[in-house]
Amino acid sequence: MIFAINGSNSEWSINKKLLKSVIKHSEVNANLLEIESLDIPIYSIQRQQKHGFPQEILELNESLNNASGFIISTPEHNGFFTAFFKNLIDWLSRLDRKVFRDKFVVILSTSPGKMGGKTAAISLSTLVNRMGGRVISVHSLPSFKENYDESTGEILNGEFLSEVKHAVKQMELDIKTEKSKELELVV
Ligand SMILES: Cc1cc2nc3c(=O)[nH]c(=O)nc-3n(C[C@H](O)[C@H](O)[C@H](O)COP(=O)(O)O)c2cc1C
Repeated sequence: MIFAINGSNSEWSINKKLLKSVIKHSEVNANLLEIESLDIPIYSIQRQQKHGFPQEILELNESLNNASGFIISTPEHNGFFTAFFKNLIDWLSRLDRKVFRDKFVVILSTSPGKMGGKTAAISLSTLVNRMGGRVISVHSLPSFKENYDESTGEILNGEFLSEVKHAVKQMELDIKTEKSKELELVV
């Protein structure tokens, strides 16, 4: 199962809207992780030693074993992905450095600005590759308000949509190819 992850903890996250719309348009069977309500303390080695891992982190780490690939959408906070998402990755990395389990990853971003959070998406792709993900591509939807119809939940930017649909289809193919190679090795 492909996991869709939103790097925002905002209740009204535009990146969550983007993810939902992308999942619908690409007709991909994806599980949207509901992590925005996680209220995890900022990682510190002393906290880990004194209190251990938060239960939600242990559960999230366990569930990542079921991912066949990832679609991650990130907001941009002052030129980077969010402290919220970095904190989750810091905790998870203490349980398994391969947070993204050697799986393929498509990275998205959006913001109300003209760059659509591109800088954050690029810096996130560096981190994801470092933490055991294999980033296929990065796509940023600029000027969210103008490129998204709130009443229908549709993305209005055709070029963005076709690029992302293509990337998701490619990821599904890559996952299938890899699975059949693994089966050949077993037989
Ligand atoms: C602390 C903070 C910093 C921000 N910095 C940027 C930025 O560097 N670039 C940008 O395009 N938008 C920036 N924004 C605006 C966000 O793009 C906007 O809040 C967006 O809705 C965040 O995505 P989300 O709704 O999915 O959380 C910033 C917002 C906050 C709260």
